[in-house]
Amino acid sequence: MLVLGIETSCDDTAVSLIDYQSYGAVKILAEEISSQYSIHRDYGGVVPELAARAHLENLPVLVAAVFKGAAVEPQDIDYIGVTCGPGLKGCLLMGVAFARGFGLGHSLPVIGVNHIEGHILAPFLDNPQLEFPYLALVVSGGHTEIHVVRGLGDYELIARTIDDAAGEAFDKSANLIGFEYPGGPQLAALADSFDSSPFELPKVMRHSEGFSFSGLKTAIALLVAREKKAAGGSVSDEIRGRLAFAIQDSIVDALLFKFKKAQKETGIRNLIVTGGVSANKELRRRVEALPGCHAFFPSTQHCMDNGSMIALLAAARAELVPAAEHSLAVQARWPVETLPIAAGG
Ligand code: KG4
Ligand code: ZN
Repeated sequence: MLVLGIETSCDDTAVSLIDYQSYGAVKILAEEISSQYSIHRDYGGVVPELAARAHLENLPVLVAAVFKGAAVEPQDIDYIGVTCGPGLKGCLLMGVAFARGFGLGHSLPVIGVNHIEGHILAPFLDNPQLEFPYLALVVSGGHTEIHVVRGLGDYELIARTIDDAAGEAFDKSANLIGFEYPGGPQLAALADSFDSSPFELPKVMRHSEGFSFSGLKTAIALLVAREKKAAGGSVSDEIRGRLAFAIQDSIVDALLFKFKKAQKETGIRNLIVTGGVSANKELRRRVEALPGCHAFFPSTQHCMDNGSMIALLAAARAELVPAAEHSLAVQARWPVETLPIAAGG
């Protein structure tokens, strides 16, 4: 089954063409991504209106590029998959309107899918041996949640953030120590070049059900302000590196604490970490070290938002969910545990 995947939920326009046989047999024929980093950098965050306009400009170019790259014609494909939510409404509408138009023009069915469910299935793209059930830690710029994944659409929520997401905690902390938006990957790279830190940050909300990063964010802001004051303005490279180490350690620790607890309580041994923050090496190292478990991660390009995970999910849904259940309604909020369970998924 040949499927075109379109992703425009936030600030990356991503498109992919895949050949799908099953979860474990997916061939990526071509994939393209256009990051809008340079558009939003000066604003310190994503500007929805600018992101939507950029998607509109990027989509025809990227779609043409994947068909050319895969040497496939639009009439040869079976489905178009497009992200309908969660995400920025204006951005989602661009992707959905484009997919509908392209579908009408080429008489192709369009399947709307959930972006977080895409991240939950993304590890299959690079780990064909992965099997249900597994425990998923979804960590991105906007989401931090743990689910038991028993099959397509069969998700049991274990924990979700009650305030900031892990990616936001990385990005906002990175900004405090002088990195431009988004900053998370740079903070992580700096932290990885140190092996210890004299700075102590509080262990976050260990007894609550959900994740919370707001207290940690305040503690980080106070610590950085104290060190800047002590240094008379800006801290030395050494102190900056040690701060980055302490910040990464505390965010990863908060994620691991709840993930380990969920693993113990459910007894599930297949673990996945997915979403932008799953590119973090320290997080991967600590998840891989969990005793008696098998850890699976997407490749770096599939940690971030990408079109292949959307195409894979659309293919799986096309195969397992009756046609009448596919909707193209755009939803800014759309928790995955509310999705219908696919028979035979
Ligand atoms: O999944 P994603 O590409 O987009 C969203 O759906 O949000 O995630 C982007 C987030 C950003 O906050 C970025 O700073 C973070 O992932 N990120 C990282 C790393 N690479 C990306 N955070 C920590 N360490 C990294 N290596
Ligand atoms: Zn994402």
